[in-house]
Amino acid sequence: VETLADASKKARKKVGTAPSYGVMASGEEDYLSLLASEFNYITPENVAKWGPLQPVSANEWDFSAFDSMLAVTQDNKQKVKGRALVWHRQAPNFVNEQVDAATLAQMIDNHITTTMQYYAGEIYAWDVVNEVMGDDANYRQSVFYKKLGKSYIADAYISARAADPRAKLFYNDYGIDSINAKSDAVYTMMAELIADGVPIDGIGFQMHLDAASAPSTEEMTANLQRFADLGLSVNISEIDVRISSLSWDDVTNLAIQQQVYHRAVNACMNVRQCDAFTLWGFTDKYTWIDGEFGEDDPLIYDDEYQRKPAYFGVADGL
Ligand code: XIL
Repeated sequence: VETLADASKKARKKVGTAPSYGVMASGEEDYLSLLASEFNYITPENVAKWGPLQPVSANEWDFSAFDSMLAVTQDNKQKVKGRALVWHRQAPNFVNEQVDAATLAQMIDNHITTTMQYYAGEIYAWDVVNEVMGDDANYRQSVFYKKLGKSYIADAYISARAADPRAKLFYNDYGIDSINAKSDAVYTMMAELIADGVPIDGIGFQMHLDAASAPSTEEMTANLQRFADLGLSVNISEIDVRISSLSWDDVTNLAIQQQVYHRAVNACMNVRQCDAFTLWGFTDKYTWIDGEFGEDDPLIYDDEYQRKPAYFGVADGL
């Protein structure tokens, strides 16, 4: 194949990555050129999150880093997903237990409205709320849930639709990649939101996978399809595949990783409403996995920007 972006056009799916603003700003040439050539969909890794956009106070926004990233994506003619407007991690310091419920609701609405109006027309999709379901399949006990109950979720989508009616509005979560207790709980939540007429267009499945325990194509397909059958657009939103838990030789480990990527692409290909396949980074040189889970090589390019077997696992599936 030439590039993933070429392959994805035939497949009629977007193929995405989540670039680091810091690395982009450093001007590393291999990074920037692959970012431009391989992908047609961009999700900022961090600069469009609530905390980074409101680093100082509740009435001030700093759009400068996201703006610079958008200058590049516009040059590259790439679509963009902004995120995450409401998330319990990387939220501003002023969002905390000391704030009363009415003020917190106001902060959420202000942030969504100001940010989405500022970028109206430029952003293809937004993750409006992220990771509200806990690993125990109950609503996560975040500051938002504790102060406001689950109503803040519907309210966030209503604010978002009003702020930029052209943007597609997504929910996003991890650990919901196949049918399990947590994805069942998210399925129930999405069905309720839709039944209540809440404006929501789609759902992203993060797929931070461990090669040792990754689901089969059939399991992922069945899960994506049931959400699609609710009338939602679905996408794989943050895939990476850890291999440090495997104990075969390197060649075998990389071949297993290739298969896991291939399974996930196939699941997206199997579901008509799966519109995008986004990787959380692209080179093993820069991956959040090293900091969060320990040293690993979860992506499709190696540290020297050479294509790994995993690259072909994606490309051959598209
Ligand atoms: C991660 C980023 O990659 C890190 O740089 C940051 O320190 C923490 O967040 N789920 C998400 C993403 O929704 O926003 C996370 O990104 C990865 C897990």
